[in-house]
Amino acid sequence: MGKTEPSDWATDAHLAVRVVAMRRDTNAAGDIFGGWVASQMDLAASTAAEGFAGCKCVTVAINGMVFHHPMAVGDELNVYTRIVKVGRTSITICAESVRRIRRTNIRQKVTSGNFVFVAVGEDGRPQTLDKEWHLADQKAPPEN
Ligand SMILES: CC(C)(COP(=O)(O)OP(=O)(O)OC[C@H]1O[C@@H](n2cnc3c(N)ncnc32)[C@H](O)[C@@H]1OP(=O)(O)O)[C@@H](O)C(=O)NCCC(=O)NCCS
Repeated sequence: MGKTEPSDWATDAHLAVRVVAMRRDTNAAGDIFGGWVASQMDLAASTAAEGFAGCKCVTVAINGMVFHHPMAVGDELNVYTRIVKVGRTSITICAESVRRIRRTNIRQKVTSGNFVFVAVGEDGRPQTLDKEWHLADQKAPPEN
């Protein structure tokens, strides 16, 4: 499988966000903003992180973000997420966005990256993750 094709795990079981790109999401050149795609991925990844942590999580880092294909108006953006690492207070989510080209069934990987979140308390400071708490269908990765 080429690295610009959707990953094997990018299936409905991992779907976190599905949205259609609109004209308001374009830049001056008429293409879809990379920042719009990145924000959809951050949203999707934060949902996965908070679902796992059961508390507020904030983005501390986005690593290895690569844009493989451009998006066009009318394309459907699908963002898939999976937990790849759980630390004392941090959760790393791999997010992959896949476009379905408008009016076709052609799917192409748009962007991928690792989003690192930190679980925080009411004071905004990191708090230790309760590893017993997780959604029934959201399994943590094996301990390192
Ligand atoms: C996230 C935040 C609470 C972390 O505070 P901190 O004092 O730096 O926290 P720590 O040094 O104790 O690190 C906490 C965890 O984050 C991880 N971390 C910190 N910086 C990191 C980085 N650049 N990359 C990856 N992980 C990082 C640490 O490894 C640690 O993980 P672990 O507990 O699982 O081992 C603080 O940096 C913050 O509030 N940042 C702003 C967050 C925000 O507003 N995000 C939205 C931006 S628009």
